[in-house]
Amino acid sequence: MDITIIHGQAHKGSTYHITDMIRESISSDNTVIHEYFMIEDTPGFCVGCYKCIQSGEQYCPHADKVQEIVSSIIESQVIIIDSPTYCFEMTGQLKTLFDHYGYMWMSHRPRKEMFSKIGIAVSTAAGTGAKNVVKSIERQMFWWGIPKVYKLNFNVNAMNWDGVTEKIKTKISNRVNQISEDIKNNINNVKPNIKTKFLFNLMRKMHTGNDWNMTDRNYWDNNKWLGSERPWNLYNRL
Ligand SMILES: Cc1cc2nc3c(=O)[nH]c(=O)nc-3n(C[C@H](O)[C@H](O)[C@H](O)COP(=O)(O)O)c2cc1C
Repeated sequence: MDITIIHGQAHKGSTYHITDMIRESISSDNTVIHEYFMIEDTPGFCVGCYKCIQSGEQYCPHADKVQEIVSSIIESQVIIIDSPTYCFEMTGQLKTLFDHYGYMWMSHRPRKEMFSKIGIAVSTAAGTGAKNVVKSIERQMFWWGIPKVYKLNFNVNAMNWDGVTEKIKTKISNRVNQISEDIKNNINNVKPNIKTKFLFNLMRKMHTGNDWNMTDRNYWDNNKWLGSERPWNLYNRL
């Protein structure tokens, strides 16, 4: 199994440690980890050139960094994305990465491999706001087509991991252990729910009459999604 981990921060604080606990409890001996840290792996800011959406993702001025992470995501069964809560939101550097993935939202050119993956969104806050952050991360992964996203948000009442009390660490550890069992049972076993299927079909209708973006339209056509093929059926045939 492969796991891609995208840290919305460079430092190893509470958020990193919780993600690491999850990694450890869902990994086995042959698990391959692809790990990225924002800022080091953050592409430059999106400049709004629309090249990814209109011409192809390879034409993004930041394609090198952006596509390296996409390749890891495609190879992985589980994608973990974390961020500390900054002013009720994810970090700016993580949002910068997400902006580059607009082209692979269901409304444009989602990757068929996404429709069988598990996502995990992690955030910590000192007091409040982490719930908002995991919801935002979940929303991004949902629009990539990922059918199941687990959310782990904790108020740690601290500025860093050393400052977190043993009581809170035990609560976190119990929650991680509980959710990890569920995650392990669901690996290679998830299917899109009605919400994903509904939105995919709405996008399908939109692309059927799409004469404003032939890159998107041809993509849907080549995947036979404008006909009867669906991305989630791929894995039923294997
Ligand atoms: C710039 C900045 C903004 C923050 N905003 C919030 C916030 O909106 N709500 C909150 O409860 N804590 C906030 N915090 C505290 C952190 O979210 C909290 O300490 C978190 O656990 C840090 O995670 P880390 O140890 O992984 O860096 C903020 C911290 C910083 C540095």
